[in-house]
Amino acid sequence: MSTLNNSVYLRRREELFSLLGDGVALIPSGEEKIKSFDTGYPFRQDSNFNYLTGFDEPESLLVLCPNNKEGRTTLFLRPKDKVAEMWEGRRLGLDKAKEALGVDLVFSIHDLDKKLPELLQNHSKVFLDLFSNKPLVDKSLEHLRSLSGRKKSKIASPQKMVNLPPIIGMMRLKKDAEEISLIRKASAISSKAHKAAMAFTSPGKNEYEVQALMEYIFKKEGAQGSAYQSIVAGGNNANILHYINNNEVLNKEDLLLIDAGCEFGLYASDITRTFPVNGSFSRAQKDVYQIVLEAQKKAMEESKVGNTLTHNHDAATKVLVQGLMDLNVLEGSFQEHLEKQSFKDYWPHGTGHWLGLDVHDNSPYINEEKSDIAFEEGMVFTIEPGLYLPLDDQKVPQELRGIGIRIEDDVLITKNGHEVLTDDVPKEIEAVEEACQKNYRDFL
Ligand code: GLY
Ligand code: MN
Ligand code: MN
Repeated sequence: MSTLNNSVYLRRREELFSLLGDGVALIPSGEEKIKSFDTGYPFRQDSNFNYLTGFDEPESLLVLCPNNKEGRTTLFLRPKDKVAEMWEGRRLGLDKAKEALGVDLVFSIHDLDKKLPELLQNHSKVFLDLFSNKPLVDKSLEHLRSLSGRKKSKIASPQKMVNLPPIIGMMRLKKDAEEISLIRKASAISSKAHKAAMAFTSPGKNEYEVQALMEYIFKKEGAQGSAYQSIVAGGNNANILHYINNNEVLNKEDLLLIDAGCEFGLYASDITRTFPVNGSFSRAQKDVYQIVLEAQKKAMEESKVGNTLTHNHDAATKVLVQGLMDLNVLEGSFQEHLEKQSFKDYWPHGTGHWLGLDVHDNSPYINEEKSDIAFEEGMVFTIEPGLYLPLDDQKVPQELRGIGIRIEDDVLITKNGHEVLTDDVPKEIEAVEEACQKNYRDFL
């Protein structure tokens, strides 16, 4: 049923109760989405709903009422239905839901309109996602409107709506032990797939063959699949940051940039490696690679309790800008490039993001005082510097044109520093070249 023991979800709900005051929170499940006509995309549970229930069905709604005497946790879900289950798959059903999910009250999702007004009344505010679930916001407003019309009935209607995701996002910033073990597992599977890709790649293969091998390993190792669309970008394709076509033949003179990671127990991993298609870096490729690697190391050094993602970014940016000057891509004053951000053509993105149930984990980056959120033990994020030197950029020295390099790892903040969860994938030049000589079958 749920990935983790019920006590984990009870603990998380308990923490959320303490933040709701006398409000009521509505947390809907994910929705099934149509891919074409009557065929759907694979269902993926909503991250917040999963975080608080571990329940993997669509058409469900969790309602948390800290002050409700009949029960603080209510779940609306699909009732059992013999015919629907024969066609579409098993359902937990109402009878089993209480015990299986540790909730107090269960109702059929078909009774939502009847029951929801009762659950909303006599609370001061409603917490819900104000921006990505318009039907639920509209429905709640409709119920609030009709509740507030009953002025003589001694029933109070909530007068305020509060956006809930940032509150749950704050809770999700520091990963608990169960989350860390799922991210560890996702990282280990993705690491294996990256090592297999290095061993498998050779001139003449197509980008999609490498992608298929990696995604095969994701599934074979028990992951749900990719956490995000794999980027398998040979040569100049690496200079398209979100290249997902993955359908070109690999040239022997080129590098291959792969940004791919699996999702395990709905937790993401996010790894990028860049390596030579023919197994040996050229002089020019080495020069650029060493700069990106050094930038990543400097950002890693900053990854400790009390520092922030901005420390990481600033450290990486200094190395990359100096590198761009050493490579004769940028000329002029180092300080001026930093101030004017004139490196953006070649180093356009951030150095990292939170990682968890979402690959770009939906947690705040800035606290209530508007300053960067400082690292604490249990936070997980990526470090992913890159340099992108497009083939058609006349300002780039000829021999560097068409090189695009990113190196990305997943990092857990610990009491005394950090742990690199994806350290198993080679990234030093010699180690990468060695990994390219291995037999990919050893990873299957
Ligand atoms: N793969 C998405 C990212 O690196 O942020
Ligand atoms: Mn990333
Ligand atoms: Mn990535």
